[in-house]
Amino acid sequence: MTRAVEWVKVDSERYPATEGESVRDERVVNGKRVWHPRKSKAAALLVKGVDLPIGDARVLYLGAGAGTTPSYFADVARAVYAVEFAPSPASRLVDVAETRKRLFPLFADARKPSEYSSVVEGVDVLYQDVATRGQADVALKNAGFVREGGRAYVIVKARSEDVTAEPEEKYEEVAEKLDEKYEVEKVVDLSPFYDDHAAVVARRR
Ligand SMILES: C[S@@+](CC[C@H](N)C(=O)[O-])C[C@H]1O[C@@H](n2cnc3c(N)ncnc32)[C@H](O)[C@@H]1O
Repeated sequence: MTRAVEWVKVDSERYPATEGESVRDERVVNGKRVWHPRKSKAAALLVKGVDLPIGDARVLYLGAGAGTTPSYFADVARAVYAVEFAPSPASRLVDVAETRKRLFPLFADARKPSEYSSVVEGVDVLYQDVATRGQADVALKNAGFVREGGRAYVIVKARSEDVTAEPEEKYEEVAEKLDEKYEVEKVVDLSPFYDDHAAVVARRR
């Protein structure tokens, strides 16, 4: 049976939720970990009605941070390869992964995929949340890991590209660059949960 993200009701709102071991101070309802849209951009995407096919999938997660969203993914995915290059979040990510057999922390630079190419197998989903300049280039460099037809979710933090530009301009620029290796399906603004952030949703060519 495919594991899947479910929905729970909290204070009359519906939120995505998964069954798994809790991380830090998160809310648990009916035994399920609640993904809050203000704490996880993936939760914001789901609340906005975007399909995120991670059930039983292999996922390459770039910009894993301290591992909160990667831990949600690992509740339902087959494997989550979580790449993080900053030592402090990476050490928290390793702690989070300790008890999760489907979460593989990789202390590496997502701009240098050769650092983890011997570990990562072809993935169904690329999820990227690096929040640094050159967000399209990172996704292009990692396109080789994504199977044909696989999905990419590239979170774009506009201010990381240029603090003075209009955010929409930056989303469009990233989407245009991605076209080299991905067929862009839509650009989803993450407001009101995150200002000046959008997700480019695409399919690997
Ligand atoms: C917004 S945070 C990620 C939060 C996380 N995705 C979550 O939802 O729990 C962005 C992270 O990307 C990491 N990062 C930025 N550039 C990176 C790179 N080139 N390689 C690996 N990690 C990177 C940063 O160190 C930071 O921890």
